[in-house]
Amino acid sequence: MDIQNLIPFILLFFIPCSFCFTPIDNYLLNSGSHTNASLFNRVFVADSTFLSAEKSISLTNQNPPPNSPTLYHTARVFTNTATYRFSMKKNGIQLVRFHFFHFKTQGFDMKSSNFDVLVNNILVLTGLQSTSDDVLIKEFILKIESNLLEILFRPVGNSGFGYVNAVEVFNAPPDFVLDYGTRLVGPNGVEVYNKLSSQVLETIHRINVGGLKITPFNDTLWRTWIPDEDFLVFKDAAKAAVSTQTPNYQKGGSTPEIAPDNVYMTAQQMNRDNSILASRFNITWNFTVAPPGGGAPHLVRLHFCDIVSPVLNLLYFDVYINGYVAYKDLDLSSLTVHTLASPVYVDFVADSDDSGVIQINVGPSDLSSAMRMNAILNGAEIMKMVNVIDSSIVHRKKKLGVLVSSIVGGSVGLFIVIIVFLLAMKCRKKKPKLRTVESAGWTPLRMFGGSSLGRMLSETGSHGYSGLKIPFADIQSATNKFDRSLIIGSGGFGMVYKGVLKDNVKVAVKRGMPGSRQGLPEFQTEITILSKIRHRHLVSLVGFCEENSEMILVYEYVEKGPLKRHLYGSAAQPPLSWKQRLEICIGAARGLHYLHTGFAQGIIHRDIKSTNILLDENYVAKVADFGLSRSGPCMNETHVSTGVKGSFGYLDPEYYRRQQLTDKSDVYSFGVVLFEVLCGRPAVDPQLTREQVNLAEWALEWMNKGMLEHIVDPHLVGQIKDRSLKKFGETAEKCLAEYGVDRPTMGDVLWNLEYALQLQESGQQREPHTDSSTNEAVNVTNRVVLGSSSSNRRTERDYDNGCSDICGSQVFSQLMTNEGR
Ligand SMILES: *[C@@H]1O[C@H](CO)[C@@H](O)[C@H](O)[C@H]1NC(C)=O
Ligand SMILES: *[C@@H]1O[C@H](CO)[C@@H](O)[C@H](O)[C@H]1NC(C)=O
Ligand SMILES: *[C@@H]1O[C@H](CO)[C@@H](O)[C@H](O)[C@H]1NC(C)=O
Ligand SMILES: *[C@@H]1O[C@H](CO)[C@@H](O)[C@H](O)[C@H]1NC(C)=O
Repeated sequence: MDIQNLIPFILLFFIPCSFCFTPIDNYLLNSGSHTNASLFNRVFVADSTFLSAEKSISLTNQNPPPNSPTLYHTARVFTNTATYRFSMKKNGIQLVRFHFFHFKTQGFDMKSSNFDVLVNNILVLTGLQSTSDDVLIKEFILKIESNLLEILFRPVGNSGFGYVNAVEVFNAPPDFVLDYGTRLVGPNGVEVYNKLSSQVLETIHRINVGGLKITPFNDTLWRTWIPDEDFLVFKDAAKAAVSTQTPNYQKGGSTPEIAPDNVYMTAQQMNRDNSILASRFNITWNFTVAPPGGGAPHLVRLHFCDIVSPVLNLLYFDVYINGYVAYKDLDLSSLTVHTLASPVYVDFVADSDDSGVIQINVGPSDLSSAMRMNAILNGAEIMKMVNVIDSSIVHRKKKLGVLVSSIVGGSVGLFIVIIVFLLAMKCRKKKPKLRTVESAGWTPLRMFGGSSLGRMLSETGSHGYSGLKIPFADIQSATNKFDRSLIIGSGGFGMVYKGVLKDNVKVAVKRGMPGSRQGLPEFQTEITILSKIRHRHLVSLVGFCEENSEMILVYEYVEKGPLKRHLYGSAAQPPLSWKQRLEICIGAARGLHYLHTGFAQGIIHRDIKSTNILLDENYVAKVADFGLSRSGPCMNETHVSTGVKGSFGYLDPEYYRRQQLTDKSDVYSFGVVLFEVLCGRPAVDPQLTREQVNLAEWALEWMNKGMLEHIVDPHLVGQIKDRSLKKFGETAEKCLAEYGVDRPTMGDVLWNLEYALQLQESGQQREPHTDSSTNEAVNVTNRVVLGSSSSNRRTERDYDNGCSDICGSQVFSQLMTNEGR
């Protein structure tokens, strides 16, 4: 047995030590008892020293049910108001739990108790009735900014009395509840919600989706997670997935305290085995909660960990809550630092529907290909936001609320984060309450989970761009007054500077040249469009400035710069491996595919070339410079002029003839990039012989001779498997077809490149999902082939049937709609 096989066993031994989170304040009370009792390895101590002087009664169950824990054999009964007091060393979010297990003794039948419970004057429980014969545990998560935590039991009416068997009070781990990154879901679309930490949360459901019950013994915060089966609306839609590997926790993602390993190691995914099911469907869970009149909204915390995909960037799905879009095109790969099985969670705030149900659906997104349609969920927690009654608390909350809402003021996006952050810095001394914002660390790495910069970035959409405005002064200081030594590029639009914003975020600042041909209306249109685009493989807009007749766009800074630089020339050291190159091409194709299909109107890049594909520190490709060259005569001029200078060799020949750009023009240019990547030489190299000057022509000639391997970058010789090279070459060749209609879509290109990667990695192996969905795939392919003049050759027949043509998810959804009629 090698060490790898031993690891699960070693972990098993250490499970109690995975409870390594030790709260500074940790009070566990065995109510109504003079002795200690332990439950799940935790010692609950006698409660009397924590109790205020008011009268109360200790009761012991003379006939406890067999096998019931000793902890529940005693109870404290309150016939008058009484208070437990705990001195807290650590302020902030706390967990408070009450255990109720009713019994009948000395004239008290705890079933008929009637009482309220207040925590620091916040009414958390009212008119509690526990009729179940099981233990009832009520858990609250709330922020206490005081050195004293008081729990008050208050009987209701003349005959009312209260009781409790055990109490837990302990500090929540750091960043357990964060004030940003939460999505408010409802009829108005997704909005930002940033008051979470000031809410009192009561746990209603805690579900280990696709897995078994997790007891407090195995949970990092001594919680209980139950399986999801009873909540699944259509059980056959889901299929449990189980991983044997411990999750890859990443900085900025979820932590073992947010949810234990076991939650992330199981999931439900779409069950594609059952042929009755249409291939596109949701998995649906119904959770019963309080009806809307009865309460405040709920926090829905969903846990995700991609344990189902063989590689990154395959899983795209939508999340709905009560029929409203909660997270569109969720791409776990883009939330995790380049690794699979990395746990994240997302917080949503939603209301229940009239029947008191919170319904959660997950289903494949329009961005997923027909072959890989899937959706997952690993865990779900639903917490009610408990009303606050005490006036002093309301007052305190209001002040914070006003501050927060004036900050938010209707503008959304990254800028809120920056503004909140800056304000927090300013107010730090006066307003320690906002500390959480800062202590949670607004760093680019803290990108997801509750704090999620990444999530904030994706929220700009419906709210326009006003939140992205950056004062000119800030841009000046970020670029050291446009220091020439910070210039990292130039183009038709003007100069590009490297800059660092106040919060240490590196940016690329694109400053329109004074007197640039681009007019203000176009500039504004650009911003509206760009601010809506968020994708792992597209460079994001961070903000803009239009003061002093300046037109400045601020983008995320992409560390390793243009792909071109890594392909040839003196800086191309060390050379990129074939696998790296394939992954870069796949990423760029994915970004372009998103540009072409992710929006109603579709966006044509118009200037695809290896200098416009940037690489981040992990060599993840990000397409840059899109959108700047949209319609408008001035724009075209700018474009053509840059085209003649820089993009010669990439231009679609059909564009010359018809003066009309389509998304197939991008496909052509991308084909040139593919050969550039393969051959490690520029698209145009005037120093070479006449036949060699133009890469596209030269490469196609060698393709025709069937001798592509002769022109492969010398650094790659011996690395590329034949079938991978063949697939790649054919894909690039198709992109370079003379007429746009004969070229594949970016979706097709993407799938063929992924196939080339699989051929490289796995030799003969076929795609694992192929078989289960071959039938539908064939249908779709027929449809596409009939409807287009595609001249694609089908060499890898099975695979092509499955993948090459159907990537167009529109085609697929069209098929589904037709079936539905
Ligand atoms: C009860 O538990 C506490 C904390 O573990 C310990 O300090 C104390 O000695 C125990 N008391 C008895 C009577 O066992
Ligand atoms: C804790 O987890 C381990 C491993 O999953 C399991 O074997 C054990 O039964 C669990 N213990 C409890 C008390 O749930
Ligand atoms: C699930 O909830 C929805 C919305 O309240 C309701 O229409 C549906 O009947 C429920 N389904 C089940 C099986 O409970
Ligand atoms: C999934 O559920 C959402 C919300 O109820 C709905 O809008 C969408 O049409 C469903 N998708 C499918 C494929 O049924």
